[in-house]
Amino acid sequence: MPIILPINDDSIARASALLRQGRLVAFPTETVYGLGGDATNGRAVASIYEAKGRPTFNPLIIHVPEVQSLDSLIEWTEEARLLASAFWPGPMTLVLPRKKAAPVSLLASAGLETLAVRIPSHAAALRLLRAFGGPVAAPSANASGKLSPTMPDHVADSLGDAVDLILDGGKSEIGVESTVIDMTSSFSMILRPGGILPDQIEAVLGRPVSVHGGTASPEAPASPGMMTSHYAPHLPVRLNARIVFEGEAFLAFGDDALVKGGAARLNLSHRGDLTEAAANLFAMMRELDKPIYTSIAVAPVPNEGLGLAINDRLRRAAAR
Ligand code: TXA
Ligand code: MG
Repeated sequence: MPIILPINDDSIARASALLRQGRLVAFPTETVYGLGGDATNGRAVASIYEAKGRPTFNPLIIHVPEVQSLDSLIEWTEEARLLASAFWPGPMTLVLPRKKAAPVSLLASAGLETLAVRIPSHAAALRLLRAFGGPVAAPSANASGKLSPTMPDHVADSLGDAVDLILDGGKSEIGVESTVIDMTSSFSMILRPGGILPDQIEAVLGRPVSVHGGTASPEAPASPGMMTSHYAPHLPVRLNARIVFEGEAFLAFGDDALVKGGAARLNLSHRGDLTEAAANLFAMMRELDKPIYTSIAVAPVPNEGLGLAINDRLRRAAAR
């Protein structure tokens, strides 16, 4: 199994040395754990795809510690600068035109002329990115299509020895991935709902933004992480459950005292708090995903605020 180390000067130095050698390091971010590799090293990037079993048409997010680090990678737009200063460091990813001379492996952007970039806010992530000193390609640190990791042991369970080192930053604070915004056309579009909400983006841009509604086809994914089946546990998932059947595991939200039955239950947030629910989502799904149950029944979650991201992940978890 991979080594799991607490965050300190030694572990950060060890992690950045591994990255320099083209090896893979899982590190905490405020959203979920990332599987990091040197974005300029084609072999390191290839081993990210291999470790995850990820289709190579699905591009990776490039992580950097500060805005200036992006100047050599992407073409800035005025609106991208506005969003960057409003929400970075933080749970937002911008898709922008890739500079021709960008020293990022073409495989990392799956041959696209765009690049997805993000500055995470987690202190350990920033420490690692600064120590390494170059762009780090980092998808969520889970096997492709499966539940995203919000704890170091989720990473170890999902990826095993494919990752050389896991930096332990405890439980991810937000628990769902960053909001991915396509800024490559004159109307920006939210490709993946996440930690930064549509209202917040609209307030900064001073105009409405659309949210990618449909599911992408696997052949031509707008954002390939939007493929219908994703974030999937092994068990079937039943959504908007108001009753629970025998043998089912129940993932409740809010007051569940009147909902009887089920072989097991966990509650995303007893007090009906969407922020708390997002932080618990992947860990609780993982905990209920046991072959002794027939399926996971999930209570309705309001489709507002972080509920947009939660419902997006739940729909994909339920799709087969
Ligand atoms: O919160 C997060 O974003 C986490 C942490 C580790 O930063 N990362 C993450 O990466 O969720 P991943 O690979 O699991 O999801 C990246 C998403 C995918 O849906 C991918 O298709 C999309 O971003 N993406 C990457 N590059 C893109 C591009 N050039 N154009 C459109 N979508 C892109
Ligand atoms: Mg992912």
